[in-house]
Amino acid sequence: MSRTALPIWQSLVRHCVEVRQSHLREVFARDPNRFEAFSCEALDLLFDFSRQRITRETLDLLLDLAREVSLSERIGALLNGEAVNNTERRPALHTALRRPLEGEGAPPLIVNGKDVTEEVRAEREKLERFVNAVHSGERTGAKGKRFDTVINIGIGGSDLGPVMAYEALAQFRRQDMRVHFVSNVDGCQLADALARIDPETTLFIVCSKTFTTLETMTNAHAARKWIVEKLGSSAPGRHFAAVSTNHGAMDEFGIGADLRFSMWDWVGGRYSLWSAIGLSVALAIGADNFRALLAGAGDMDAHFATAPFERNLPVLHGLLGVWNRSFLDMHTVAVLPYDQRLHRFPAYLQQLEMESNGKRVTRDGRLVDYATGPIVWGEPGSNAQHSFFQLLHQGTARVAIDFLAPVQSSCGQQAQQDLALANCFAQAQAFMQGFAGPQVRAELEEARVDRTRIAELVPHKTHPGNRPSSILLFQRLDPGTLGKLIALYEHSVYVQAVVWDINPFDQWGVELGKKLADKLVPLVRDPAAAAPSQHELRGLLGYVTRWR
Ligand code: F6P
Repeated sequence: MSRTALPIWQSLVRHCVEVRQSHLREVFARDPNRFEAFSCEALDLLFDFSRQRITRETLDLLLDLAREVSLSERIGALLNGEAVNNTERRPALHTALRRPLEGEGAPPLIVNGKDVTEEVRAEREKLERFVNAVHSGERTGAKGKRFDTVINIGIGGSDLGPVMAYEALAQFRRQDMRVHFVSNVDGCQLADALARIDPETTLFIVCSKTFTTLETMTNAHAARKWIVEKLGSSAPGRHFAAVSTNHGAMDEFGIGADLRFSMWDWVGGRYSLWSAIGLSVALAIGADNFRALLAGAGDMDAHFATAPFERNLPVLHGLLGVWNRSFLDMHTVAVLPYDQRLHRFPAYLQQLEMESNGKRVTRDGRLVDYATGPIVWGEPGSNAQHSFFQLLHQGTARVAIDFLAPVQSSCGQQAQQDLALANCFAQAQAFMQGFAGPQVRAELEEARVDRTRIAELVPHKTHPGNRPSSILLFQRLDPGTLGKLIALYEHSVYVQAVVWDINPFDQWGVELGKKLADKLVPLVRDPAAAAPSQHELRGLLGYVTRWR
């Protein structure tokens, strides 16, 4: 049965008609206690969703919807290792990678009849030993020099999580270690990085769950060739580490046993920062800080599993996502962190949300008749204010907004962070209230602008407002907090997927383009080989021939 056939869904549809008639400005004026009703503080995070277009009834109905779709049971299924990724017939157990394993008796976690606790613990300990050995200089390059540079080669989940966390935790990085991230197939990032590094002190980490991804393998082979040219044919054995499920391919590449890290097919690429895919981050911030990152995410997992829905951050966040997308028809979500250190957070969320919930069929393969995953995008405030906020305030697109901000400065500049916070709050107010025609007119009259000019300007200066936003505030951007934030979004994505009845853990939609690209490589290299049946490409290939 489609979700739209549920009576509770239809109640929400009817309720939405009423909500659309009210303006947030009036709703706030009528109810001075909106903050108390529509905010939630947990794990030192404050989630203020009072500026969402909701009433108490909306929230009650959304919570009923969550119960109707058995959200509790579905959360249990995720955390207990059931095959929630039904099309690939496997669990999605990223949470297993950040469970507390210290001390006696970490509870068993059975995957395919086998307790994986020990494997996870062993891999985590191996990563920490490796990180410490690199830092102490016990593990060196081929010429015996200490590593001070890491090049992480990976793409998608093998890149976006690590680069986002590396940037976010700049304040926690060691001074004696720099990391470069190379993902793109065009070779420019690799060329730029190689131009700046010393081969003798550089460790390459090839991150690829499959170890077959075109971009990653192309860059990895190019990097290995470069190391051989610089340091000789035996050097790759000391300068290349790898993280993958594919041990055969790591063997073939020549990755030694002590330089290889495992992951598991039950960890999705975009959920893999917590595995050894996070090795570059651990090398940058140290093993203790990496542990704190995992612990923060583990705290959010425990909260997700146990907090009542009314006080459950990922549940509330996810249900509001469903409300905005499926009922209020907001096509996109702008993610706006008021902290430059989080400048890659929107890009990271793009993969997390859009690769997970960009689906149009239900778990059992029926076409949905409601809107699913929104387009996610964003940039750090306050930069974004000076580029695309115009459209958010006065354009015709329907955009929901997620603000994020730490109270404490991430770079010791508290006076400037106070400005960032003031801007964040001001924008949230402006999106909520707007600036109505009569207000615009009154302001211009007060400034003694003449009547013709006022008539001319009023429509241009009017801000409709009523733009929904949430603000997620936290004390400071440290490893633990970052872990909580990421896990919050991961679980929010899951909540939305459960309500939409879609599988958030597969990504079949990326396959077709990959396959076609494989076929086209020979044609781009030799356009004359194109068959007459490939007439759609004739013009493009002709231009390439003329100008390459
Ligand atoms: O193309 C999509 C994708 O499969 C992502 O899901 C994944 O994160 C990325 O490619 C990289 O895959 P791998 O880690 O196997 O190289």
